[in-house]
Amino acid sequence: MSHRAPVLLPLTTDRLTLRAHESDDAGRLHGIYSQPEVARYLLDEPWTEADATRHVSERLAKTGLDDESHALALVIEHEGTPVGDVLLWLTDTEHRIAEIGWVLDPAHGGQGLAREAVGEVLRIAFEHYRLHRVTAQMDARNDASARLAAALGMRQEAHFRQDWWNKGEWTDTLVFALLFGDR
Ligand SMILES: CC(C)(COP(=O)(O)OP(=O)(O)OC[C@H]1O[C@@H](n2cnc3c(N)ncnc32)[C@H](O)[C@@H]1OP(=O)(O)O)[C@@H](O)C(=O)NCCC(=O)NCCS
Repeated sequence: MSHRAPVLLPLTTDRLTLRAHESDDAGRLHGIYSQPEVARYLLDEPWTEADATRHVSERLAKTGLDDESHALALVIEHEGTPVGDVLLWLTDTEHRIAEIGWVLDPAHGGQGLAREAVGEVLRIAFEHYRLHRVTAQMDARNDASARLAAALGMRQEAHFRQDWWNKGEWTDTLVFALLFGDR
């Protein structure tokens, strides 16, 4: 994988720009991730400003799967405003298996923007990075996220029961996946 050309950023779709993180994003992402509604099914508690600064500084280096980070962290911009992010990271570098995660500001939800952003990153995952398999995992109560995965053609492969202790309770996990050959 190390001989592949880097993915050219930003990526653009009809309504969105997907770009690498910048230090300035901490404030805006804090505004998204500090909302209890956003954090509800994430592993993180609602972010403090310090959390936002730390996460964004970690994400600055996540500019491609062939980098040392083995990860691509993209801010979703809509009409010039950051409205969420998508993260793709290799879980098996040798066999080209990755996981994907997404967050969209509820103020911009219900318009298909997450679908548009994640669809583009999945396209890059298979067409540019030639990945074999991409998975997405979520709390089984996270209906919006499961609907998004299914809408993108990801297949539900598992429903693990109480496999994760999160925020003071046992939670179920859904696993969705898409294979190179599925598309
Ligand atoms: C999961 C999450 C990204 C989904 O956001 P979303 O805006 O519902 O997702 P989409 O972009 O797929 O939008 C789909 C909705 O927009 C509607 N829509 C409107 N216009 C549309 C268009 N042009 N194209 C597609 N869908 C459109 C769809 O009908 C759909 O509505 P429905 O969910 O009622 O069926 C969001 O809820 C979120 O960030 N949650 C908090 C963080 C989180 O839990 N992340 C996932 C962790 S695993």
